Amino acid sequence: MSVKFKTATGVHDTGDCFLNLNLLAHSQLIELDIGSQCGGYGKCAGDKIILAEADRKKVSAPNAIELHQLTAEEIQKGFRLACQCFPNQNNEELVISLP
Ligand code: FES
Repeated sequence: MSVKFKTATGVHDTGDCFLNLNLLAHSQLIELDIGSQCGGYGKCAGDKIILAEADRKKVSAPNAIELHQLTAEEIQKGFRLACQCFPNQNNEELVISLP
């Protein structure tokens, strides 16, 4: 099971999924730039991702930083900040799109 990032250049598969690693860190495992500008501190909102509906229950709930940085409509549509979002367990299968 792994984290797959769907981008304009194709699907980028991390090959693994780790409970204690946020989704920004997963992208960094494969040297995929998803737009982080603040280094994962929840300040830039440059690392917005969209989770497939079926995958939203496989990750941590939006935290206070995300509720501040994202609109209610974005959250309803599955937008998250990759640096604030963690898989609920090892070996999840997650499909992520970039807005
Ligand atoms: S990397 Fe800046 S908000 Fe996530």
